Amino acid sequence: MPGQKIVEVSGAVGERERVNNFFKIIGFSLSLILFYTLFAVYYVPDSHVDGLGRKGRKVLLPIEEIGAVAYGEEVFYGRGGCAQCHDSAGGRAPELTDVAVRASSRVTSPEYKGEATDAIGYLFESMVKPSAFVVDGYGTVIGKKVVSPMPDVSSGTIRLNKVELAATVAYLQSVAGIDVTVKVPVLTGGVGAQEKSGLKAAPVIEKTKE
Ligand code: HEC
Repeated sequence: MPGQKIVEVSGAVGERERVNNFFKIIGFSLSLILFYTLFAVYYVPDSHVDGLGRKGRKVLLPIEEIGAVAYGEEVFYGRGGCAQCHDSAGGRAPELTDVAVRASSRVTSPEYKGEATDAIGYLFESMVKPSAFVVDGYGTVIGKKVVSPMPDVSSGTIRLNKVELAATVAYLQSVAGIDVTVKVPVLTGGVGAQEKSGLKAAPVIEKTKE
């Protein structure tokens, strides 16, 4: 019967088309996945941006390779989050270009109640005990106390380790144009010793909306 044949042919074509469509859909889905994977890898910008719009690096080069000052600069603009508050405008926090110099007069001023005895000590103290001395005009009054809005950068989300704190001081001395005299803990074991020692650094903190 001619009619039956037509039905048979169209049935076979329908089957082949379904199979073809199935592979087309699979192929299309796979290329979409591939496209977005490549897009994410190559084109999506790194979201870790510091307060000055500079891109923070997720993985720092080892301090043994780039030196303490460069390492400290990376910490300052990157995961230390310092530049988010300390920018050249100085509105939110004092400008730090000369802080390593003015640090010596801070510790000898009559208002100073902290424990540091020299400039380097003051810089360390400013980072880990910000309220030991609060720069005039930047404090928040809580009861009878004047408290610094700056967090202790050796704890909380920033959690800088000893090497990073010392390297930041080295960077501050260097930008102030004075000799870098701070002792930066040396980790024996060459390049990568810091990671191996477990002195893992905190990740870059993301820019917070103001
Ligand atoms: C949330 C904002 C904020 C962040 C983040 C921050 N600071 Fe501060 N910092 C301040 C403010 C506000 C002051 C002034 C009040 C005071 O004296 O504590 C200050 C004061 C200081 C001082 C003393 C300045 C002076 O003139 O005596 C130093 C040094 C300093 N910060 C270093 C740093 C470093 C280094 C980092 C990053 C590791 C950092 N700060 C991160 C807000 C911040």
